[in-house]
Amino acid sequence: MRCYQVESFGLDHLQLAERPVPAPGPGQALVQIKAVSLNYRDLMMVQGVYNPKLKLPLIPCSDGAGVVLAVGEGVTRVQPGDRVMGIFSQTWISGPANRERSAGTLGGPHDGTLSEQRLFAAEGLVHTPAYLTDHEAATLPCTAVTAWHALVERGQLAAGETVLIQGTGGLSIAALQTARLLGARVIVTSSSDEKLARARALGASDGINYKKTPQWDKAVRELTGGVGVDHVVEVGGAGTLNQSLRAVRLGGHIAVIGVLGGASSTELSVVPVLMQNLRVNGVFVGNRDMFEALLRAYTLAGTRPVVDRVFPFAAARQAFDYLASGQHFGKIVIEIGN
Ligand SMILES: NC(=O)c1ccc[n+]([C@@H]2O[C@H](COP(=O)([O-])OP(=O)(O)OC[C@H]3O[C@@H](n4cnc5c(N)ncnc54)[C@H](OP(=O)(O)O)[C@@H]3O)[C@@H](O)[C@H]2O)c1
Repeated sequence: MRCYQVESFGLDHLQLAERPVPAPGPGQALVQIKAVSLNYRDLMMVQGVYNPKLKLPLIPCSDGAGVVLAVGEGVTRVQPGDRVMGIFSQTWISGPANRERSAGTLGGPHDGTLSEQRLFAAEGLVHTPAYLTDHEAATLPCTAVTAWHALVERGQLAAGETVLIQGTGGLSIAALQTARLLGARVIVTSSSDEKLARARALGASDGINYKKTPQWDKAVRELTGGVGVDHVVEVGGAGTLNQSLRAVRLGGHIAVIGVLGGASSTELSVVPVLMQNLRVNGVFVGNRDMFEALLRAYTLAGTRPVVDRVFPFAAARQAFDYLASGQHFGKIVIEIGN
């Protein structure tokens, strides 16, 4: 089977390789991968930024959707012909995160999905709803599950609340869709007016261009009558957290998810966290139960994930370059055969 792998860090080292097709052992399922979606994490992983000590070679990417080709002894969860998606951490089925549950992550340290076939633990698969294409399904395992975990599980988001979402990448658009699904008001920030218009078309009520309005936290307070939002989906990290602390209401919730604007800062004040009784939750993707809850809700509402652009398998490098450029809105998909 053909796959992409990195033998040393850097996008220039993303190479096509040939590996033997593995046979499913007890409890395993062999999946023909049809589509893969890219996450910012995949880019950091290939660049060696995510974990410079990562063992190589590595097949990158955590997210994939496809069809079961064969199953090993004792497998009852899936059967050949089933359309499936892999879960992000193959060892996190239920309950809160712990060391063991968080250790089974695909696309680093374990080989990922950018491969024609992949062997999964059958328990590490969920069924693809019939109404979703493989391209759409491939967008869900990391960012959509993270957004669900952040807003629904940890945030306890309720209808009528207001959510601030930073940016319009994969995580942010999934958060927008989940927030709208649950009846929340959504305020989006973006570097682009055109992307803000697209976010409004998906149900955002307000958009703030953070390039034109660097004091976007003030604009958020104005839009909420001086009160602040109930939830912030924080993807800018050190570059945005101080402003998020000013944009959230007293007693509100900040889901700390991304580091797009930097990972550490010496200028962070913890005072608002305690004075304003804030809930600040670190969120790392989610478990299979959350994924299946998301799929039930998406299916009932007919929610379609936003696929910005699809690249052929041969153009995987260009897909990574496109992600790095930040031009996309929603998710980038790599198609692997038919
Ligand atoms: N904790 C977890 O489990 C988890 C899971 C998934 C993702 N993440 C993290 O979440 C972040 C987003 O991931 P992704 O895959 O959605 O990335 P992505 O698709 O590449 O999103 C990039 C977009 O984020 C926006 N952005 C960049 N810098 C920003 C800033 N300083 N302030 C506000 N928005 C900014 C931009 O939107 P505009 O073009 O609209 O400005 C950019 O296009 C990454 O840091 C990733 O590592 C974490």
